[in-house]
Amino acid sequence: MKLAINGGAKVRNTLFPRYNNIDQIEIDAVTKVMQEGVLSQFIGAWCNDFYGGKKILEFEEKWSKKFNAKHSISVNSNTSGIITALGACGIGLGDEVIVTPFSMSISATAPLFYNATPVFCDLDMNTYSYDLEMLERVITKDTKVIIVVHISGCPSNMDEIMAIAKKHNLYVIEDCAQAPGATYKGKPVGTLGDIGIFSLNYHKHIHTGEGGMCTTNNDTLANKMQLIRNHAESVVDAKGETDLINMLGFNFRLTEIQAAIGVEQLDKLDMELEIRQQYAKMYNDTLTKYDFIETTTYDDRTHSYYVQLFRFYEEKAGISRERFIEAVKAELMPVEGREKEGVPIGFGGVKPLYYHPIFQKKWAYKEQGFGFKETINYNKGLCPHYEELHHKRLFSHDFTRSPLTVSDVKDVIAAYCKVADNLDELK
Ligand SMILES: Cc1ncc(COP(=O)(O)O)c(C=O)c1O
Repeated sequence: MKLAINGGAKVRNTLFPRYNNIDQIEIDAVTKVMQEGVLSQFIGAWCNDFYGGKKILEFEEKWSKKFNAKHSISVNSNTSGIITALGACGIGLGDEVIVTPFSMSISATAPLFYNATPVFCDLDMNTYSYDLEMLERVITKDTKVIIVVHISGCPSNMDEIMAIAKKHNLYVIEDCAQAPGATYKGKPVGTLGDIGIFSLNYHKHIHTGEGGMCTTNNDTLANKMQLIRNHAESVVDAKGETDLINMLGFNFRLTEIQAAIGVEQLDKLDMELEIRQQYAKMYNDTLTKYDFIETTTYDDRTHSYYVQLFRFYEEKAGISRERFIEAVKAELMPVEGREKEGVPIGFGGVKPLYYHPIFQKKWAYKEQGFGFKETINYNKGLCPHYEELHHKRLFSHDFTRSPLTVSDVKDVIAAYCKVADNLDELK
């Protein structure tokens, strides 16, 4: 069977449907807010409206119930949520925050907004959770927080991480941007550490266009996050706050329109997760029969499959990962409306975050670095496991989501299998 990359017929000749989970129900909810005419009810002063309007309060309460959290604090992105959470943890100049090389950049740069120093810790090659031996090694007397990212939607090894955090008296912030509804030992991520942060941006399982949510069971942290979200500095006096650490606030407020969308979107999460888990299993069952493709599955946690990650073994396949993926892509078609992006199968994950100039040049503010300890190391080679994953092993797709049908998924599987069964054509 001639591969498409060599001029053969493609497995599929039609575009895949794009992800769009907005229905009439969200349109009606937004219309109602518009008709009532209050698009945001926040006031950045100590008064009844300090906590926002009725849709914000409804959304936060519904989120708390869903994720078993005592407090949910809406924000206008996961980015602002991480900044808010770190502020609430009280970090500042001289403090260190442990961060991952494998995430969206804000998961590693957020400490810089408080002049604290990001310290990278490598990952375990199989689970993409922190390498526990290195985690213990990078903790110093200045470490205050560990930011854990449940990358791709797979919960990290929280029991072990929490035990280390407890031993060293550290806060743990969970970046759950990619993992809403994922569970670890039966519990949803987001309340396993001290604070969880969720993203509601357009690419996520459920969304409000842009948006975020912080969850915590800690009353003090919740209060601080509510203040930082909404102009803390002009509220503390009237509110009678005496702890003024990091009481420099922002406007990180979500609107009533976004909250109204969020209230409806939350009801769609379980169905979306079910679909993703079903499709991911179809890929796992088929692709891992090839000895050069590996994935990780668990009995003690459920994955939300923001993307599905695989590891590729060039040594066994006899061809490079890049050649394999290019051949699979040639068998398929792009997604409707996103044709320019090509077939959404990627390799490498993101580049290790410390490769970015901000770390390589230690340059965050004005002409000089700021918030960086001179002694800190961001050299290439810092996280060898993740570098190997990035440069040689990882590939991923998001062909696990709705409204893809079982038949769409079978096409993608057929493309992988056609290439995997005919590797000789690529040598
Ligand atoms: C792991 C992770 N952290 C943080 C973010 C930032 O989220 P937001 O766009 O809501 O600020 C993202 C967004 O893609 C993400 O995937």
